[in-house]
Amino acid sequence: MKTILTGIRSNSILTLGNYLGALLPMVRLANEHSREMNVNIFVPDLHSIISSVDGNLQENIVRTIKYYLAAGLEINENVHIYRQSYVPAHSELCWILNCVATMGETSRMTQYKEKSEGRDSCNVGIFDYPILMAADILLYSAEYVPIGEDQFQHIELTRNIATRFNNRFGEIFTVPAKTADQVKFMEVDNGLRIRDLLNPEKKMSKSTAAENSKIMLDDEPAKAAKKIMSATTDSLGKVKYDMWAQPGISNLLQIEALITDVPLQDVISTWAGETRYGDLKKKVASSVSGMLSEFQEKLAKISDQQVYELFEAGEKYANEVANAKLAEVQKAFGLR
Ligand code: TRP
Repeated sequence: MKTILTGIRSNSILTLGNYLGALLPMVRLANEHSREMNVNIFVPDLHSIISSVDGNLQENIVRTIKYYLAAGLEINENVHIYRQSYVPAHSELCWILNCVATMGETSRMTQYKEKSEGRDSCNVGIFDYPILMAADILLYSAEYVPIGEDQFQHIELTRNIATRFNNRFGEIFTVPAKTADQVKFMEVDNGLRIRDLLNPEKKMSKSTAAENSKIMLDDEPAKAAKKIMSATTDSLGKVKYDMWAQPGISNLLQIEALITDVPLQDVISTWAGETRYGDLKKKVASSVSGMLSEFQEKLAKISDQQVYELFEAGEKYANEVANAKLAEVQKAFGLR
């Protein structure tokens, strides 16, 4: 059986961009495939500690899984939910892969370059982040790793490390699909990216100071609707999907398509030729506030206990699978 695997760092409350760009597509994909594939959804808590955590890490970890459930994740015996730090094989394999990966390829990672900004005081975890991520993926022989485009480089690195290892020791790792095939599997054209509402050239980010730039999943629905109404558009006076010339309008069309689960092309045709941006904004504002109220209501009904029960079963499974793969790797190197 093939495996789909993904994780979202739980350092803070997520934005609507994280939800629509990562969480919801993942949940739809999982529900579509969990009858014929393993679906591993894990919380990369060891990745969380490379930077500061807003509030309490424990609480954030549990909330992250609640997000998936509130987004409609269906649980069956093929869906495995676990915490990275409860499966020690991740850290163990990370060390071994550190001895396979090179300084050159790891230093080229954009995320590392951006986060470290060349500072000597940058922690080593930031540098090693993609190697731990490779371990997360390779331990479970995952073929598909649905994630945002900012993580594609890490998938390519994982493929390179796995291939190098296999060339040396034989076919021990399953090399995950190429990013082009990942994208096909996810059925998105470019990895999704919801934009900042005030500066739509940029990605929506929780770290942007301006409140009206971003919608957080715990925003009051009416407040979120207001943020959509005040989103930056343009002066062209024509609703058209064009990320370069009209990023604000294109972003709204994208948000509408994702929330209503209507193909983007259909949303574009519905609004083609419309000249009043206010009408589009009203429609998107109502979609967003409707989605948030439903989501928040579901979220409130999920107990911590429910999540801990999923962890218990998932971590038992994960430890079995991961330890078996780790043992193969240890043998290959002569450690066992
Ligand atoms: N790097 C991912 C992110 O920042 C989180 C992550 C860690 C992950 N390990 C992973 C995602 C393995 C997919 C597979 O969002």
